[in-house]
Amino acid sequence: MRFVIRTARMSDLAEILRYFNGVIEERVPGLPFRNKYTLAEERKWLKGTVDGVRKGSRFYLLAETGGRIVGSAGLSYSSEEHALDSKHMMVLGVTVAEGYRGKGIGSELIRQMIAWARKKRLDLLELNVYDTNRDARRLYERFGFRKVAEIPFRTKRGNKYISHVVMQLHLR
Ligand SMILES: CC(C)(COP(=O)(O)OP(=O)(O)OC[C@H]1O[C@@H](n2cnc3c(N)ncnc32)[C@H](O)[C@@H]1OP(=O)(O)O)[C@@H](O)C(=O)NCCC(=O)NCCS
Repeated sequence: MRFVIRTARMSDLAEILRYFNGVIEERVPGLPFRNKYTLAEERKWLKGTVDGVRKGSRFYLLAETGGRIVGSAGLSYSSEEHALDSKHMMVLGVTVAEGYRGKGIGSELIRQMIAWARKKRLDLLELNVYDTNRDARRLYERFGFRKVAEIPFRTKRGNKYISHVVMQLHLR
């Protein structure tokens, strides 16, 4: 499948809203269940992201095929508005749309996230994944991420608790 990886712009607003709300509606087991975003919420988020990318405090990429957004990945600082003592690391988030998974899109997004982090001379990247999300964990391990912690009881689905696994990729 041919796809393009590119930065986001404000004109992507409607398509990004459709994309994220599609992932939310799917209730994919590996992601938190939440309410769909409103246009106003999404506009605020996208503006913050586009501005952050311009200032270098964020990194964000979209995957697009045939005019449709089918994947998204971002790096952001972990703590409140870039605390001076946590600028050595960023947190990775990545999703790909149903029907487009398993085709290499997530891998390409992650590869570009890591390349950017290296250029920015970050010490490490971190992510959070459900313990039960074996496929995603294997994918992250392939890129060198390793489990550094487990947070038990973090999510509750029905009567079942799901632990969160924290993974890190050290870049130096
Ligand atoms: C995890 C995710 C971002 C990976 O993107 P992708 O484009 O499917 O990944 P790629 O095609 O580059 O790589 C395929 C690998 O991804 C993993 N993967 C994870 N979830 C997958 C899914 N639903 N379908 C296919 N592959 C999946 C597999 O390990 C697969 O490797 P394998 O060949 O060893 O089975 C994407 O599948 C996704 O959004 N899944 C649902 C939401 C989710 O779990 N997000 C991660 C939250 S931390």
